Amino acid sequence: MPRLFLQTYGCQMNEHDSLKIASLMRSEGYELTEDPSQADCIILHTCSIRKKPEHKVYSFLGRLKHLKQKRPDLVIGIGGCVAQQEGKRLLERASHLDFVFGTHQIHRVPELVRRSRDKRERFCEVGFAADPPSLHLCPGPAPHQVKAYLTIMQGCDNFCAYCIVPYVRGRERSRPPEEILREARDLARKGVREVTLLGQNVNSYGRGLSGYPTFPQLLEMLHDVEGIWRIRFTTSHPKDLSVELVETMARLPKVCEHLHLPVQSGSTAVLERMRRGYTREEYLERVRLLRRFIPQISLSTDIIVGFPGEEEDDFLQTLSLLEEVQYDGIYSFKFSPRPGTAAARITDTVAEEVKAERLARVQDLQGSITEAILKRSEGAVEEVLVEGPSPKGKGQVTGRTRTNRIVHFPGDPELLKGRLVHVRIVRGLKNSLLGQCVEEGAGM
Ligand code: SAH
Ligand code: SF4
Ligand code: F3S
Repeated sequence: MPRLFLQTYGCQMNEHDSLKIASLMRSEGYELTEDPSQADCIILHTCSIRKKPEHKVYSFLGRLKHLKQKRPDLVIGIGGCVAQQEGKRLLERASHLDFVFGTHQIHRVPELVRRSRDKRERFCEVGFAADPPSLHLCPGPAPHQVKAYLTIMQGCDNFCAYCIVPYVRGRERSRPPEEILREARDLARKGVREVTLLGQNVNSYGRGLSGYPTFPQLLEMLHDVEGIWRIRFTTSHPKDLSVELVETMARLPKVCEHLHLPVQSGSTAVLERMRRGYTREEYLERVRLLRRFIPQISLSTDIIVGFPGEEEDDFLQTLSLLEEVQYDGIYSFKFSPRPGTAAARITDTVAEEVKAERLARVQDLQGSITEAILKRSEGAVEEVLVEGPSPKGKGQVTGRTRTNRIVHFPGDPELLKGRLVHVRIVRGLKNSLLGQCVEEGAGM
């Protein structure tokens, strides 16, 4: 059996697309290997959101050169966002690279691998499609998988000033609702109990399309799928977070009390230059709305420090916003100029040491907020969906609360995996909770 080594970088959407590639290649007779030196085909599925992940791709690609020299019949392909961004420049840059495929071409990967192997051609396929067939692929769950992602849309039309995504993923496309429902039912039949709906901007699902439900209506439809116990979604753009959505989240019991709501900065002046479409006050207003309808909701966010022109005062507003919102967790990044984006043309840059120092301050502050939140949850009884054995050791299982907090507690993974149980939180650690099972629920 030929072997495929698949290396993935970047966001959940890219990871999910990698599952689609793996599934297509399995149907083609390939099995996955963890060892590139054992592979007949190597695919790098890349991310270009910041310079750092992009560089990782180049250094990994560099290390593959000797493999190709030893085994000239090895096929090496690059896909994903770096591939879309760089196109055939990648072929010029690395003579051992066989082919490049874009973010709308993943359904063609088996064909492209065959073409490379049989014809020994080097080529680049990075065209955008009006209705990318890759949007309609379903990778299917692995055996005994409890949680799964489900793509509901792809692309982005927002063009935030710093962001490469609209350029490398193309325009926003929503997937037909009946297809989404069919996939959800199939996942449920195969034992999946929690689905996370994926899109760069799920709140604008179906926008401008006649016959499509709105995102809240789509949630209602999915709520009726038997066997699915929990629904999550990512990512929500704050400017499109409607009262209808918040009200729907509060009303539907399967929709979990957690939301990732990227704010990027606490300064209205910076937000405006980022072209985010909301002010600090409007963002905080939405947080208040969420907490009014769903008091126990936990929030997480993304922060960029050192956006061009960010002054110390702007940065202090980001810190005060973190204090005010009390996020469970954040993903924080130093601004990284991306080719072709509006922010890359602004020359008023923040020095690298200042960016590094602000990043450390933001992470320090959030670290103490997270710890305090987890500490405060001690004593509470939470519903936990058990995902499997815990890395904390034998006889321990791990799962998540509805608020997306990780809990480790004593239990038999064989018995509990895929079940909903009630767990009393006995200790809050830095990033997770320790608990004790109080009742083994059967599910819904
Ligand atoms: N669609 C999502 C996430 C997009 S990328 C959203 O709209 O929020 C994930 C995160 O990467 C962003 O939220 C942002 O915080 C960060 N990011 C994107 N471009 C960046 C850049 N050029 N420099 C630093 N961080 C960036
Ligand atoms: Fe990028 Fe903004 Fe689109 Fe998110 S909403 S993917 S940050 S352009
Ligand atoms: Fe990266 Fe592309 Fe996702 S740039 S974050 S892999 S959409």
